Amino acid sequence: PVRLAIFISGRGSNMKTLVQACLDEGFAKPVLILSNSYSAAGLEWATENDLPIAAIDHRAYDDRESFEKDVQDTLELHNVEFIALAGFMRVLTPWFTDQWEGRMINIHPSLLPKYPGLHTHKRAIEAGDKEAGCSVHWVTAGVDEGAVIDQERVEIMPNDTPDALAERVLEREHFLYPRALQKAISDFLVRELQNEAD
Ligand code: GAR
Repeated sequence: PVRLAIFISGRGSNMKTLVQACLDEGFAKPVLILSNSYSAAGLEWATENDLPIAAIDHRAYDDRESFEKDVQDTLELHNVEFIALAGFMRVLTPWFTDQWEGRMINIHPSLLPKYPGLHTHKRAIEAGDKEAGCSVHWVTAGVDEGAVIDQERVEIMPNDTPDALAERVLEREHFLYPRALQKAISDFLVRELQNEAD
């Protein structure tokens, strides 16, 4: 199985579904849960479930790259091959994303290319959209810009609130992310085999 790191910043509900899928399906092995905050609730769950964790507080660094160099060292220490960002709320620089291109994916709570960035549900409601959703995409240097791997759609109700919509979209995220991770990893493995053959 591919050695997987999952990056979180908070609750970690998507992380849980990915870990569960890895255990059930065996296509990847979660070897590291990494957070940019010591207080991320998901770290506690990871510890209780005997997963290796790393907390690297970005506030302890003067700039993004020195933070990312420590992240990179930690990944190398754990021989990580593939990264899933799951509610990781730090923007990564091209220094980091270029090294991991084709080996790092993210989940975003909108139907990309609509609404990259923050407050996606509020923006969809205010725009009068009929539907919202979530996307899993490859991570590139442009924030939320990489190719979409898969999406799930959710109807926006009359009088919907951002919180109510977020909750319904999150349910679809938990369905989408394990499936999309499995697809991304199989694409990655096919590319690896092709590179070896070349
Ligand atoms: C999820 O809704 C995820 O799509 C979103 O943060 C939430 C994390 O929840 N990610 C982003 O907004 C990325 N810019 P979780 O910690 O329970 O998985």
